[in-house]
Amino acid sequence: MIDSSDFRTQKMPLSHGTGHMPVLGFGTLIPDAAGTISATRDALEAGFRHFDCAERYRNEREVGQALQAGRAAGGIAREAIFVTSKLWNTNHRPERVEPAFEASLSRLGLNYLDLYLSHTPFAFQPGDDQDPRDQNGNLLYDRGVTLLDTWRAMESLVDRGKCRAIGLSDIGLNELLPICESARIKPAVVQVESHPYLPETELLEFCKKNDIVFLAFAPLGHGLSPGPLEDPVVSAIAARVGKTPAQVLLAWAVQRGTALLTTPRTAARARENFNISALPEEALDEINRIQTRQRFNEVVKTGSPGFIPQGR
Ligand SMILES: NC(=O)c1ccc[n+]([C@@H]2O[C@H](COP(=O)([O-])OP(=O)(O)OC[C@H]3O[C@@H](n4cnc5c(N)ncnc54)[C@H](OP(=O)(O)O)[C@@H]3O)[C@@H](O)[C@H]2O)c1
Repeated sequence: MIDSSDFRTQKMPLSHGTGHMPVLGFGTLIPDAAGTISATRDALEAGFRHFDCAERYRNEREVGQALQAGRAAGGIAREAIFVTSKLWNTNHRPERVEPAFEASLSRLGLNYLDLYLSHTPFAFQPGDDQDPRDQNGNLLYDRGVTLLDTWRAMESLVDRGKCRAIGLSDIGLNELLPICESARIKPAVVQVESHPYLPETELLEFCKKNDIVFLAFAPLGHGLSPGPLEDPVVSAIAARVGKTPAQVLLAWAVQRGTALLTTPRTAARARENFNISALPEEALDEINRIQTRQRFNEVVKTGSPGFIPQGR
């Protein structure tokens, strides 16, 4: 059996470059500035070394400040952390990619990113409004740019040494396949919602065969109720093995070969979510047999995020 230290330090190699992604990632989709700073500091202190950010979360400055202060306090080198950001839908036009990337880098106070993702495959009307809509409230899409056009501009960022790897988020196999076929630099990572109610097995198998890291967001089902945290199978396993339901869900994600992003907002939960260890095989089998199917985040269908703080 793998002991807990393996999980805390486990990394997955990225298919291009020399990067390795820590499997346990901290997500920074947190609605308020003060909460972003304290949760990021707590996550770093608990041991998280992988931080998932996005221009759309509108808190990269706060994440950057927290990382800088936390690294200084803990003597943690830049190379010891792995930082991701994401290109928002309004910046898919190739000429907007590098400025958007540079703006994220500057807000985060960094001089390179470990990973840059296209946040969704949907291009929105370019401009400063991150949520462009017509008078009827319908999203304004940009039909003048393809995902491959955007991808080519992201490849140039790798060529210029600005980020070490690139990937895609909120994408299904139908959109991923053509990118994999045409890309000069293949996607290193795919970030999608995944938990026992949405195992995305076909996509996971494809990723494993093609050396793409499958990075699961919402491994706790966004903490929603009812959801996997309250699933009777998960609760029974947790009671049996002396762990919390969150620890069971996170261990399951790692043991099936995915990296994960979780968003604990207190120091106690950061320690709980970081200090996970392997489950027995029969527990994994029980979770794999759960029949409930549910997607909690509709972003993959429209490009419009379900969980973005409004009004910031
Ligand atoms: N690519 C995309 O479109 C996309 C979409 C969504 C998220 N993400 C990324 O994925 C990250 C993960 O976010 P998520 O919401 O999916 O994370 P999650 O860990 O599945 O859910 C977070 C929720 O679970 C609760 N929680 C955390 N630890 C817990 C524990 N030990 N026990 C019980 N409840 C616990 C939190 O509650 P409290 O708030 O009460 O602490 C929070 O409400 C985000 O921050 C973001 O970086 C990406």
